[in-house]
Amino acid sequence: MPIAPKMIVAGNWKMNGDLSRIEEFRKQLSHLSVVEVVLCPPSVYLSSAKSDNYAVGAQDCSEFLSGAHTGDISVEMLKEIGCKYVIIGHSERRQDHLESNKQVAAKVKTAIDAGITPIACVGEPLEVREAGGVFEYVGEQIQAILELCGDTFFSSSVIAYEPIWAIGTGKTASPEQAQEVHAFIRKELLKVSEKAQMMSILYGGSVKPDNAQALFAQPDINGGLIGGASLQLESFKKICQAAN
Ligand code: 13P
Repeated sequence: MPIAPKMIVAGNWKMNGDLSRIEEFRKQLSHLSVVEVVLCPPSVYLSSAKSDNYAVGAQDCSEFLSGAHTGDISVEMLKEIGCKYVIIGHSERRQDHLESNKQVAAKVKTAIDAGITPIACVGEPLEVREAGGVFEYVGEQIQAILELCGDTFFSSSVIAYEPIWAIGTGKTASPEQAQEVHAFIRKELLKVSEKAQMMSILYGGSVKPDNAQALFAQPDINGGLIGGASLQLESFKKICQAAN
């Protein structure tokens, strides 16, 4: 019986990478005993990225199961090619594709129903933090998911807290700032289910080899969702080792 949430390090390549980089990672990203390593390349590379050493995750999925939704990818399709995870509600999708809390919740539910683990992303923009509204903002993002998914959310889901002001900016949240929000998220989840004790809550936003260990040492930070630093094999490996 595990006694703590699983440590997970997921690399979100966003719209970067190519087949040769996939090959490099597939050959050289070795298995780590304690940490679950997840690689999330662009969807066209998912099949090529499969390996016994790590799990593969998509960067998005449709909230629909099939039909006239040009360009979208269903959870069943992701499952068929061996995806174990899917990132949902990343702030870049919320911004670029106007995904609402409600749509994000619908996608999370679709993934859970299909047996794929959603990595549900939440996080506030800078103006919200400066106005002191972090808990309210993140709380609403979480509530939308809980309202739709209820207890099913606790079967296998993962949450990623990614403050928008820390993404790709080099401005990491301090371990204390991140821990404060992670503890809040866990408290909100615990109001619904005791199983929240075992849920992995990942931090994302300018995680690098030199700050990963301090972040991962926080009691409610159970790994990371890594953008830029996951594109270089050596830096991604170091971040994975920091979680081991
Ligand atoms: P960076 O690590 O590049 O800041 O990106 C974080 C992120 O958005 C991961 O999903």
